[in-house]
Amino acid sequence: MATAPRKLVAGNWKMNGLRASIDEAVRVADRIEGENTPDCDVLICPPATILAQMGWRLGDSAIGLGGQDCHQDKSGAHTGDLSADMLADVGAKYVIVGHSERRADHHEDDATVRAKAEAALEAGLLPIICVGETESQRESGDAYQVVIAQLVGSLPQEGKPETIVVAYEPVWAIGTGKTASPTDVEQMHAVIRKVLVERYGEIGEGIRILYGGSVKPDNAAELLAIENVDGALVGGASLNAEQFVAIIQAA
Ligand code: PGA
Repeated sequence: MATAPRKLVAGNWKMNGLRASIDEAVRVADRIEGENTPDCDVLICPPATILAQMGWRLGDSAIGLGGQDCHQDKSGAHTGDLSADMLADVGAKYVIVGHSERRADHHEDDATVRAKAEAALEAGLLPIICVGETESQRESGDAYQVVIAQLVGSLPQEGKPETIVVAYEPVWAIGTGKTASPTDVEQMHAVIRKVLVERYGEIGEGIRILYGGSVKPDNAAELLAIENVDGALVGGASLNAEQFVAIIQAA
Protein backbone atom coordinates (compact mmCIF):
# COMPACT_ATOMS: atom_id res chain seq x y z
CA MET A 1 0.00 0.00 0.00
CA ALA A 2 1.30 3.50 -0.84
CA THR A 3 2.22 5.73 2.10
CA ALA A 4 -0.56 8.10 3.09
CA PRO A 5 -0.11 11.69 1.95
CA ARG A 6 0.59 14.45 4.48
CA LYS A 7 -2.69 15.61 5.95
CA LEU A 8 -4.21 19.01 5.22
CA VAL A 9 -6.50 20.87 7.59
CA ALA A 10 -8.20 23.67 5.68
CA GLY A 11 -10.47 26.38 7.05
CA ASN A 12 -13.15 27.76 4.78
CA TRP A 13 -14.28 31.09 6.19
CA LYS A 14 -17.01 31.48 3.55
CA MET A 15 -18.60 34.97 3.60
CA ASN A 16 -17.34 35.74 7.09
CA GLY A 17 -14.55 38.04 8.14
CA LEU A 18 -13.58 41.70 8.06
CA ARG A 19 -10.03 42.99 8.48
CA ALA A 20 -10.33 42.78 12.26
CA SER A 21 -10.93 39.01 11.96
CA ILE A 22 -7.36 38.56 10.76
CA ASP A 23 -6.45 38.62 14.47
CA GLU A 24 -8.14 35.22 14.78
CA ALA A 25 -5.86 33.77 12.08
CA VAL A 26 -2.85 35.31 13.83
CA ARG A 27 -3.96 33.59 17.05
CA VAL A 28 -3.99 30.26 15.20
CA ALA A 29 -0.50 30.94 13.80
CA ASP A 30 0.83 31.79 17.28
CA ARG A 31 -0.56 28.56 18.72
CA ILE A 32 1.04 26.31 16.10
CA GLU A 33 4.55 27.73 16.25
CA GLY A 34 7.80 26.21 17.40
CA GLU A 35 7.35 22.98 19.33
CA ASN A 36 3.62 23.08 18.57
CA THR A 37 4.24 22.96 14.82
CA PRO A 38 1.62 20.52 13.57
CA ASP A 39 2.33 17.37 11.66
CA CYS A 40 0.01 18.47 8.85
CA ASP A 41 -0.43 21.31 6.39
CA VAL A 42 -2.70 24.11 7.55
CA LEU A 43 -4.69 26.39 5.29
CA ILE A 44 -7.14 29.24 5.71
CA CYS A 45 -9.38 30.36 2.85
CA PRO A 46 -10.61 33.79 3.94
CA PRO A 47 -12.78 36.12 1.86
CA ALA A 48 -10.64 37.43 -1.02
CA THR A 49 -10.95 40.99 0.33
CA ILE A 50 -8.65 40.18 3.26
CA LEU A 51 -6.42 37.58 1.66
CA ALA A 52 -3.48 39.89 0.91
CA GLN A 53 -3.55 41.56 4.31
CA MET A 54 -3.81 38.21 6.07
CA GLY A 55 -0.75 37.08 4.15
CA TRP A 56 1.25 40.09 5.35
CA ARG A 57 0.14 39.59 8.95
CA LEU A 58 0.93 35.86 8.92
CA GLY A 59 4.36 36.36 7.36
CA ASP A 60 6.20 33.06 7.21
CA SER A 61 3.89 31.22 9.63
CA ALA A 62 2.82 27.61 9.09
CA ILE A 63 -0.54 28.75 7.67
CA GLY A 64 -1.04 28.71 3.91
CA LEU A 65 -3.73 30.80 2.25
CA GLY A 66 -6.32 29.96 -0.34
CA GLY A 67 -9.23 31.43 -2.27
CA GLN A 68 -12.80 30.13 -2.03
CA ASP A 69 -13.50 30.14 -5.76
CA CYS A 70 -11.99 31.34 -9.03
CA HIS A 71 -13.28 32.02 -12.52
CA GLN A 72 -12.33 29.56 -15.24
CA ASP A 73 -10.97 32.28 -17.55
CA LYS A 74 -7.62 34.01 -17.10
CA SER A 75 -9.09 37.50 -17.45
CA GLY A 76 -11.87 39.33 -19.22
CA ALA A 77 -15.38 40.73 -18.96
CA HIS A 78 -16.67 38.89 -15.88
CA THR A 79 -17.88 41.52 -13.47
CA GLY A 80 -17.38 40.57 -9.86
CA ASP A 81 -15.32 37.46 -10.54
CA LEU A 82 -11.70 36.72 -9.64
CA SER A 83 -9.19 34.75 -11.72
CA ALA A 84 -6.83 32.14 -10.35
CA ASP A 85 -3.92 34.41 -11.33
CA MET A 86 -5.35 37.22 -9.18
CA LEU A 87 -5.55 34.93 -6.16
CA ALA A 88 -2.01 33.66 -6.75
CA ASP A 89 -0.84 37.25 -7.14
CA VAL A 90 -1.96 38.13 -3.59
CA GLY A 91 -0.44 35.06 -1.98
CA ALA A 92 -2.96 32.22 -2.36
CA LYS A 93 -1.51 28.75 -2.77
CA TYR A 94 -4.82 26.87 -2.99
CA VAL A 95 -8.33 27.55 -4.22
CA ILE A 96 -11.57 25.75 -3.40
CA VAL A 97 -13.64 24.92 -6.49
CA GLY A 98 -17.09 23.38 -6.78
CA HIS A 99 -18.13 23.90 -3.15
CA SER A 100 -21.75 22.77 -2.84
CA GLU A 101 -22.77 26.32 -1.90
CA ARG A 102 -21.40 27.53 -5.25
CA ARG A 103 -22.93 24.60 -7.12
CA ALA A 104 -26.30 25.52 -5.57
CA ASP A 105 -26.17 29.33 -5.37
CA HIS A 106 -24.38 29.92 -8.68
CA HIS A 107 -25.58 26.88 -10.63
CA GLU A 108 -22.05 25.62 -11.21
CA ASP A 109 -22.03 22.29 -13.03
CA ASP A 110 -19.25 19.71 -13.23
CA ALA A 111 -17.86 21.07 -16.51
CA THR A 112 -17.52 24.53 -14.97
CA VAL A 113 -15.86 23.10 -11.86
CA ARG A 114 -13.44 21.14 -14.05
CA ALA A 115 -12.58 24.29 -16.03
CA LYS A 116 -11.98 26.14 -12.75
CA ALA A 117 -9.72 23.36 -11.49
CA GLU A 118 -7.74 23.48 -14.73
CA ALA A 119 -7.47 27.29 -14.46
CA ALA A 120 -6.19 26.91 -10.91
CA LEU A 121 -3.52 24.40 -11.97
CA GLU A 122 -2.44 26.67 -14.79
CA ALA A 123 -1.99 29.52 -12.31
CA GLY A 124 0.11 27.28 -10.06
CA LEU A 125 -2.62 26.93 -7.40
CA LEU A 126 -3.66 23.65 -5.79
CA PRO A 127 -7.39 23.22 -6.47
CA ILE A 128 -9.55 21.69 -3.73
CA ILE A 129 -12.33 20.07 -5.73
CA CYS A 130 -15.50 19.54 -3.70
CA VAL A 131 -18.08 16.82 -4.23
CA GLY A 132 -20.95 15.53 -2.12
CA GLU A 133 -24.51 14.25 -2.20
CA THR A 134 -27.63 15.89 -0.84
CA GLU A 135 -29.75 14.35 1.90
CA SER A 136 -32.42 13.13 -0.53
CA GLN A 137 -29.77 11.59 -2.78
CA ARG A 138 -28.36 9.70 0.19
CA GLU A 139 -31.80 8.61 1.35
CA SER A 140 -32.68 7.31 -2.08
CA GLY A 141 -29.47 5.25 -2.16
CA ASP A 142 -27.82 7.31 -4.89
CA ALA A 143 -24.93 8.80 -2.89
CA TYR A 144 -22.15 6.79 -4.55
CA GLN A 145 -23.49 7.25 -8.05
CA VAL A 146 -23.87 11.02 -7.53
CA VAL A 147 -20.42 11.50 -6.01
CA ILE A 148 -18.66 9.37 -8.63
CA ALA A 149 -20.38 11.28 -11.45
CA GLN A 150 -19.51 14.65 -9.88
CA LEU A 151 -15.91 13.62 -9.39
CA VAL A 152 -15.41 12.18 -12.87
CA GLY A 153 -16.98 15.32 -14.35
CA SER A 154 -15.03 17.76 -12.17
CA LEU A 155 -11.50 16.31 -12.29
CA PRO A 156 -9.10 18.25 -14.50
CA GLN A 157 -8.09 16.75 -17.81
CA GLU A 158 -5.20 19.14 -18.23
CA GLY A 159 -2.48 20.22 -15.82
CA LYS A 160 -0.58 18.36 -13.15
CA PRO A 161 -2.89 16.07 -11.15
CA GLU A 162 -0.24 15.63 -8.40
CA THR A 163 -1.31 18.87 -6.81
CA ILE A 164 -5.07 18.42 -6.73
CA VAL A 165 -7.00 17.88 -3.53
CA VAL A 166 -10.51 16.39 -3.37
CA ALA A 167 -12.97 17.22 -0.60
CA TYR A 168 -15.92 14.94 0.13
CA GLU A 169 -18.57 17.07 1.77
CA PRO A 170 -22.02 15.54 2.13
CA VAL A 171 -24.30 18.54 1.63
CA TRP A 172 -26.57 17.50 4.49
CA ALA A 173 -23.62 17.60 6.91
CA ILE A 174 -22.47 21.14 6.07
CA GLY A 175 -23.24 23.61 8.82
CA THR A 176 -25.86 21.28 10.32
CA GLY A 177 -23.93 19.66 13.15
CA LYS A 178 -24.60 16.26 11.52
CA THR A 179 -21.64 14.23 10.27
CA ALA A 180 -21.51 11.15 8.14
CA SER A 181 -20.85 7.98 10.16
CA PRO A 182 -17.25 6.75 10.20
CA THR A 183 -18.32 3.75 8.12
CA ASP A 184 -20.01 5.96 5.51
CA VAL A 185 -16.95 8.23 5.36
CA GLU A 186 -14.60 5.27 5.02
CA GLN A 187 -16.65 3.73 2.23
CA MET A 188 -17.08 6.96 0.29
CA HIS A 189 -13.40 7.86 0.58
CA ALA A 190 -12.44 4.37 -0.65
CA VAL A 191 -14.68 4.85 -3.68
CA ILE A 192 -13.14 8.28 -4.36
CA ARG A 193 -9.64 6.79 -4.06
CA LYS A 194 -10.59 4.13 -6.60
CA VAL A 195 -11.79 6.76 -9.09
CA LEU A 196 -8.57 8.77 -8.60
CA VAL A 197 -6.37 5.72 -9.16
CA GLU A 198 -8.37 4.70 -12.22
CA ARG A 199 -7.92 8.19 -13.64
CA TYR A 200 -4.34 9.01 -12.66
CA GLY A 201 -2.69 5.69 -11.84
CA GLU A 202 -0.12 5.80 -9.05
CA ILE A 203 -0.49 9.58 -8.72
CA GLY A 204 -4.06 8.94 -7.59
CA GLU A 205 -2.73 7.16 -4.48
CA GLY A 206 -1.10 10.37 -3.30
CA ILE A 207 -3.98 12.77 -3.95
CA ARG A 208 -5.36 14.08 -0.68
CA ILE A 209 -9.03 13.40 0.04
CA LEU A 210 -10.45 15.70 2.72
CA TYR A 211 -13.66 15.16 4.65
CA GLY A 212 -15.87 18.18 5.26
CA GLY A 213 -19.19 18.74 7.00
CA SER A 214 -19.48 19.77 10.65
CA VAL A 215 -15.93 18.82 11.58
CA LYS A 216 -15.50 19.99 15.19
CA PRO A 217 -12.89 19.50 17.94
CA ASP A 218 -14.90 16.62 19.41
CA ASN A 219 -15.20 14.54 16.22
CA ALA A 220 -11.99 15.53 14.38
CA ALA A 221 -9.70 12.81 15.78
CA GLU A 222 -12.14 10.04 14.89
CA LEU A 223 -12.76 11.35 11.37
CA LEU A 224 -9.09 12.04 10.67
CA ALA A 225 -8.08 8.53 11.71
CA ILE A 226 -10.22 6.91 8.99
CA GLU A 227 -8.37 5.31 6.10
CA ASN A 228 -8.17 7.59 3.05
CA VAL A 229 -9.16 10.65 5.08
CA ASP A 230 -6.18 12.88 4.38
CA GLY A 231 -7.45 15.96 6.14
CA ALA A 232 -10.48 18.10 6.78
CA LEU A 233 -12.26 21.03 5.20
CA VAL A 234 -13.66 22.99 8.10
CA GLY A 235 -16.28 25.72 7.88
CA GLY A 236 -17.84 27.06 11.08
CA ALA A 237 -15.20 25.75 13.48
CA SER A 238 -12.40 27.42 11.48
CA LEU A 239 -13.71 30.86 12.47
CA ASN A 240 -12.67 30.28 16.05
CA ALA A 241 -8.94 29.99 16.76
CA GLU A 242 -9.42 27.71 19.75
CA GLN A 243 -11.59 25.24 17.85
CA PHE A 244 -9.51 25.34 14.67
CA VAL A 245 -6.29 24.70 16.59
CA ALA A 246 -7.92 21.74 18.36
CA ILE A 247 -8.83 20.23 14.97
CA ILE A 248 -5.30 20.85 13.64
CA GLN A 249 -3.87 19.11 16.69
CA ALA A 250 -6.14 16.12 16.09
CA ALA A 251 -4.65 15.56 12.63
P1 PGA B 1 -19.01 23.28 8.20
O1 PGA B 1 -18.67 23.66 6.66
O2 PGA B 1 -17.74 22.79 8.83
O3 PGA B 1 -19.50 24.57 8.81
O4 PGA B 1 -20.04 22.22 8.16
C1 PGA B 1 -17.82 22.85 5.90
C2 PGA B 1 -17.69 23.41 4.50
O5 PGA B 1 -18.70 23.85 3.93
O6 PGA B 1 -16.58 23.42 3.94
